[in-house]
Amino acid sequence: MDLSIIGSGYVGLVTGACFADVGHNVICVDNDARKIEALQAGKIPIYEPGLEEVIHRNVSAHRLRFSGSIQEAVDNSQIVFIAVPTPQQASGDVDLSFIEKVAREIAGVLTDYRVIVDKSTVPVKTGEKVAESIKRYNRHGAKFDVVSNPEFLREGCAIGDLMHPDRIVIGAQSERAIDLMKKVYEPFMAPILVTDINSAELIKHAANSFLALKISYINAVSAICEASGADVEKVADGIGMDRRIGRNFLNAGIGYGGSCFPKDIAAFITISEQLGVPFNLLKEVQRINGLQKERFLKTIRETLWVLREKKVAIWGLTFKPDTDDIRSSVAIDLVADMLREGAHVTAYDPKGMEKAREVKAIAEVKFASSAMEAVEGAEALVIATEWSDFANVDLAIVKAKMTTPIIFDGRNLFDPETMRQLGFRYHSIGRATVAPR
Ligand code: UDX
Repeated sequence: MDLSIIGSGYVGLVTGACFADVGHNVICVDNDARKIEALQAGKIPIYEPGLEEVIHRNVSAHRLRFSGSIQEAVDNSQIVFIAVPTPQQASGDVDLSFIEKVAREIAGVLTDYRVIVDKSTVPVKTGEKVAESIKRYNRHGAKFDVVSNPEFLREGCAIGDLMHPDRIVIGAQSERAIDLMKKVYEPFMAPILVTDINSAELIKHAANSFLALKISYINAVSAICEASGADVEKVADGIGMDRRIGRNFLNAGIGYGGSCFPKDIAAFITISEQLGVPFNLLKEVQRINGLQKERFLKTIRETLWVLREKKVAIWGLTFKPDTDDIRSSVAIDLVADMLREGAHVTAYDPKGMEKAREVKAIAEVKFASSAMEAVEGAEALVIATEWSDFANVDLAIVKAKMTTPIIFDGRNLFDPETMRQLGFRYHSIGRATVAPR
């Protein structure tokens, strides 16, 4: 099929590449001319495992190309996907101006029937607005259908998530659009759920909020574990073995971050309030998430007594491993907090340092060229992201390099007993603190 994607950010680019990889002809569009030029020159603007290879393969096979023109996209595709950013505003409302602008631009060049699909994460009822807008600016009176088709990919494993999805949600009201959408997804051989547009939009916010709720739940349990001497990993295993609950997303830590959860939960809270049915449970989810970082900082403060002038190493700056994304990363917030309190912080991240260098709030941080270099002379090590590189280091060397072997592990990367035997004072989340006897 001939498809186009307006917006070549994370979702747009990965989706376009995977659509091409299953045999569709795809045009990825962006209004950032430099990004399009770079993509045309074979440069991929984000780090996502496997993406570069999929893009190069499909560009070579002439199934994938990049363009700055919405007209070219609309003229040459049966289905136009919208995958532009929907950032959060200070009020908590979602900024839908990019979607609105693209809808208007599509409408202006629409001459034949097209399916216009919203892939960006949007509040419920946005599809209705998109349809109204296209109708209003539809100069040629062309027929069209609006569809909601939310994306559930995770950064770091986006290709796998897209190629082997748990489900495809298609929110549509016309059989013609549903048939075309089913054809797009036929090669993926995934279960397809067809709903009305509002339900599809709601599914996305409700799914992300539920996952965030699971994380906050186990994080709240981790605080009780710390207070009572229980072990949160064991508790998570025990409740996760109940198939109704499941072990996924029950990893306690310093809280969720990233470009989706914090924004989507805030947006869901706002839209529920606007609809007159406030979703207060989600406010608690947010509160617990913030508290988790504060509790972690409190442990650091209490252990080091004074942070001023302390040499602290931090491993991990990205919001999770296998990405270079530092948006709403708890690790970055932690660095900013420690710097504010006068600590001398040296950071290392396998992929996130280039982007972290641009963050003003952590301008004073020193960057190390390896995990080992970061801990040289450190009085404490903070682990903020669970990169596998960190799990595989030689801890005896780490200990030898540190001035005082104290570790604050915000991601429960190591076994406390092993750390004790190695001679570390080791703090983790929801588990007993251990120290050499
Ligand atoms: C998320 C959703 O998973 C995805 O379906 C949606 O489309 C976009 O948002 P993403 O933000 O890429 O994906 O990452 P995810 O793997 O879900 O992790 C989000 C945050 O939760 C990370 O900061 C991660 O460290 C944290 N997390 C995740 C935990 O703290 N504990 C867990 O058990 C799982």
